[in-house]
This record gives sequence, C-alpha cells and structure tokens, in this order.
Amino acid sequence: MENFIAHNPTKVHFGRGVVNDLGKAASRYGNRVLFMYGKGSAVKNGYYDQVKKQLTGAGMQVAEYSGIKPNPVIDDVEKAADLGRRERSELVVALGGGSVIDSAKITALCIANDMKGWDIMTGTAEPVKTIPLIAVLTLAATGTEMNGSAVVQNPETREKLGYWNPLNFPAHSFLDPEYTYTVPEDYTAYGIADLIAHCLENFFGKGDAPLSDRFIYSIIQEALEVGPLVLKHPRNYEYRARIMWAATNALNGLTQQGKAYGDWGVHAIGHTLSFLYDTPHGATLSIAYPAWLKLHAGRIPERITTLGNNLFGVNTPARTIEEVRKMFSRLRCPLHLSDIGIDNSHKTQIVNLMHANRVTGRNYELSNADHLKLVNYMM
Ligand code: NZQ
Ligand code: ZN
Repeated sequence: MENFIAHNPTKVHFGRGVVNDLGKAASRYGNRVLFMYGKGSAVKNGYYDQVKKQLTGAGMQVAEYSGIKPNPVIDDVEKAADLGRRERSELVVALGGGSVIDSAKITALCIANDMKGWDIMTGTAEPVKTIPLIAVLTLAATGTEMNGSAVVQNPETREKLGYWNPLNFPAHSFLDPEYTYTVPEDYTAYGIADLIAHCLENFFGKGDAPLSDRFIYSIIQEALEVGPLVLKHPRNYEYRARIMWAATNALNGLTQQGKAYGDWGVHAIGHTLSFLYDTPHGATLSIAYPAWLKLHAGRIPERITTLGNNLFGVNTPARTIEEVRKMFSRLRCPLHLSDIGIDNSHKTQIVNLMHANRVTGRNYELSNADHLKLVNYMM
C-alpha cells in the first residue's frame, strides 16, 4: 500500500426531505448567500423553490446566478464570482449536478481570494482560503458532492481541466434521491457510466490496495444490479437512492486510499470529446473505456484480467473488454463515436487536440501514436 491521508470534511445529509434542514445549516455560515443553479431543470421541477424557501426562511439575503451549462465554462465562473464579490457573499449554495457544483467550487475560491478562476485552475494563482459551499445534488454521477475536484472548460485555451484542492470539499451536501427522479433516461445512464469509470480509473491507479479494489468491485456490482432497474423505474426511491450513494462513494476517497493516485487517462480522452462536441461526460467515458482497455490489453493483461475475473468471472483481457462493452450497452450508453454522430471526418481534429493538450494517464502514459490508435478504436 502507498501512504495516504484520509480526510473527508463534507457533512452529507442523505435521504427524503433532507433539504428541510438546509436553511438551518446555511445560516451558520453567514447571512449573504450566492445561490447558483443550471439552465432550468431545477426551476421546472420545483427544487429551486424548495431551496430558495429554505434560504429566505432563514432570513438570508440571496443573490442568484443561473444558467450554468453542462460541460461548464470558466466565463460563468468569473461572472458568478463578480456577482458574489459585489454582493459580499459569505457562502455559496449550488443546486444541480456536477457542472453547477464544480462551477460553484471555483467561484467560492475566486470570491475568497479575489482571484481569476482560470488562474486558479491552471495553478498560476494559489488560493489559500475559501468561503463555505453547500451543495444540493440533483444528479447522481460525478461524486463532486463529497470531493475536492472541479472540472471546467475554457473555450479560449481549448481545454477542459480538472482541478483538485482540499478547500473544494463542500461543507454540507444534501442528497435527496427524490430530486433525481426527473433526471432523463440518457443522463441517468451517463451518470452510472461515470461512477463506474471513477471506480475503473482508481482500479488502474498506482499502488497495490486490495481493500480499495474490493470497494471498487462492490460499487460496480451495485451499479450493474441497480442501473438497469433505475432506468426502468426512474421514480423508484430505493433504486435512485442506491445509485446516488454508489456515485458518491465511487469518488470520495474510498476507492483510492492506499493508491498513490488514479490513472485518469480515460477522463482526459473524454474531456477532449466533451470540449469538441459538447458530448455529455458519461457518454464520452462509455466510448473511451473499451478503446483504452483494447490499447492496454497487451501491456497490462494481468491487471485487466483481474478486473474481468472479479466482476464478470472471465479469464482473458479480450473477454473482459467484451463484458465492459456489454455493461455499458446494457446501460444504453454509446460505445462508438459513430453512435453520437461523429464520423471519420473528425478524426484529425480529435487527434490534434489530444496532442495539443498532451492527453495522458498518470499511471499509464499515452503517446501521440496511442492517441491515433485510441481514436481509431473509438470510431
Ligand atoms: O442545466 P439544467 O437545466 O439543470 O439540466 C441539467 C443538465 O442539462 C440536467 N439535470 C440535472 N439534474 C436534473 C437534470 N434534469 C432533470 N432533473 C434533474 N434532477 O442534467 C444535465 C447534465 O447536468 P450536469 O451537471 O452537466 O451533469 P453531471 O452531474 O454528470 O456533471 C458533469 C460535469 O461534471 C464533471 C464532468 O466533466 C462534467 O463537466 N465531472 C466532475 C467531477 C468532479 N468534480 O469530481 C468528476 C467527474 O469525472 C466529471 O469530470
Ligand atoms: Zn467522471
């Protein structure tokens, strides 16, 4: 096992009606709140009203920033931070999925340190403090509700970057599975693909941590059992609750402890696709993972077979890859770029951006020649 520090400061409020405690929790951190949300689903489905009522009911002054888009952009972060600074916001409440919560994490850092978001994300500026963030999660997928990561893209530099800082952990996260009843079928499936991918990125990380591997198998097995059920019965509380908690645990430290780091090469490939085509995050991963496994089948056959054996009872890399494809296909996720309308004419564009952004994994490096192979495998 590698050395590690286990510390997760986020207080998770999980279950039906937990948002009723939001006002009380928020008012502990101040009176002036910046309330951030997305492009409309929270308003349409009534979650916005519930959260707003909690905040005003606790006597808070609320400034609102809405319109954060999926695959969020840094421009929204800068604008939200300007608003927060003008309003002297003391805390941020984020209502939404990963895109809103990630944007809110960087916004909170910008406000507290009076810095630019992209300077923070690129390491040019080093924040030393933050203002508290309270997340209300509406989509089970990223694990951002209980981790220190944020992913944002910058159209100018043509990058989608991940940024980790312990300051980014939400102070509180409210997870009511009923808030996810309205997530459409495609995004529900992409969320499940994403949580599985988080387990796999850590499985292919550096270091030998058998207990973390066992958590990984268990979380993926949970997703495989409940995934098809939740797609069939989107308003079933138990299924939504099980997927929600699986997604949180896939990326809150549990699957990484005892490893130096995860690999994250597949996410880097996925971010290239999201940047270029605005492809939903989880859909990029169900396309990229089989290709990445195929590239590595001859390089790390034992590790891939260990995965296949523990998850599917198969004994070769080829059979493992076949099962991984079946797994994503049962979740109705795309397996090829052609499934999302990207044909051969886009190949050069994808490969060029992979080169430019030096797409690689931390544990298993990817060369320029690998980029081309991966794109061919994804077609
Ligand atoms: O914008 P609105 O109208 O709110 O609609 C959203 C959006 O269109 C909709 N939605 C969310 N909750 C809903 C709902 N629709 C109906 N009912 C609800 N309850 O779903 C769409 C997708 O939302 P988004 O927040 O983009 O999805 P997700 O949670 O999958 O987040 C994806 C983002 O997180 C990043 C991804 O790269 C991507 O940018 N990630 C963040 C990570 C982290 N911070 O740890 C790790 C991940 O690997 C990932 O990279
Ligand atoms: Zn992910």
